[in-house]
Amino acid sequence: MRNRDAGLVEDILDLKKRREAVILAHNYQLGEVQDIADFVGDSLELSQRAARTDASVIVFCGVHFMAETASILCPDKVVLLPDVHAGCPMADMITAERLREKKKEHPQAVVVCYINSSAEVKAESDICCTSANAVGIIESLDASEILFVPDQYLGHYVSTRTGKNMILWPGFCPTHARITPERIRELKQENPQAKAVVHPECRPEVIALADETLSTGGMCRYAQRDDVREMIVGTEIGIIHRLRKENPGKRFIPISEQAICPNMKSITLEKILWSLEEMGPEVKVPGGIRVRAKAVVDKMLRIGRR
Ligand code: 13P
Ligand code: SF4
Repeated sequence: MRNRDAGLVEDILDLKKRREAVILAHNYQLGEVQDIADFVGDSLELSQRAARTDASVIVFCGVHFMAETASILCPDKVVLLPDVHAGCPMADMITAERLREKKKEHPQAVVVCYINSSAEVKAESDICCTSANAVGIIESLDASEILFVPDQYLGHYVSTRTGKNMILWPGFCPTHARITPERIRELKQENPQAKAVVHPECRPEVIALADETLSTGGMCRYAQRDDVREMIVGTEIGIIHRLRKENPGKRFIPISEQAICPNMKSITLEKILWSLEEMGPEVKVPGGIRVRAKAVVDKMLRIGRR
């Protein structure tokens, strides 16, 4: 570790203790951010952790909807997002108002929202899901019509896995949309022993070529299997840091150096320190919306399928 970083890390850990804070980080965070976190995980694991922490402050190293979910679940805690501009472009592809209009067209539909959505959109939905439990959540529903928002590719993947007919909102993740079937084919040819694992936010043509389609947490568990020695990793490249750290001796091949989520990368050690110093920026969800959104997230956590 460089000296500057070592000093920063020391200051962060010291202040974290004094503030009684916990640091949660998503699998796509910068390596140095993952290394100082108390817990690193996928969206489902992070919301489960947030729900049961007894720390008074949560420093959320991820994007806005993740910090918002933590605040929805823990209204009495201070939730800090070290860069308030760290948003998720996919979550921004739908608003509560547009969802209300769509619901009028499909009054019988059960509305399932991906956790990558704002608190207002969650409040307009019936249940929420993450990439780790989407198949289980949809299977648990007794509904003849399902409106799935905002990720059309995750929705398409789940409908093929469950056989359920779903109305899909046309949102997508710009980072995963950059992953091409040509690239998967190329890497499979160059690395015939490697398992190709992709995230369900990838396009259907990409998913069709993969050996496994998994959430980022699912990828980390899959990599630990004895029969997996080499893995083509079809998701944001931040996860490579954790995969290599937890599996020395195995080979992880990033799909593309361009598979970067700039929002995830905007959280730095400096910003984490400033955030703990200033106790901001704080993410808080207004009362009425929070109560409705919490019911939607709680329903998901109760079903709890992966
Ligand atoms: P995971 O829940 O699989 O970590 O995915 C979150 C995300 O934003 C993927 O782009
Ligand atoms: Fe949103 Fe995609 Fe970034 Fe995940 S990788 S936070 S879905 S933009």
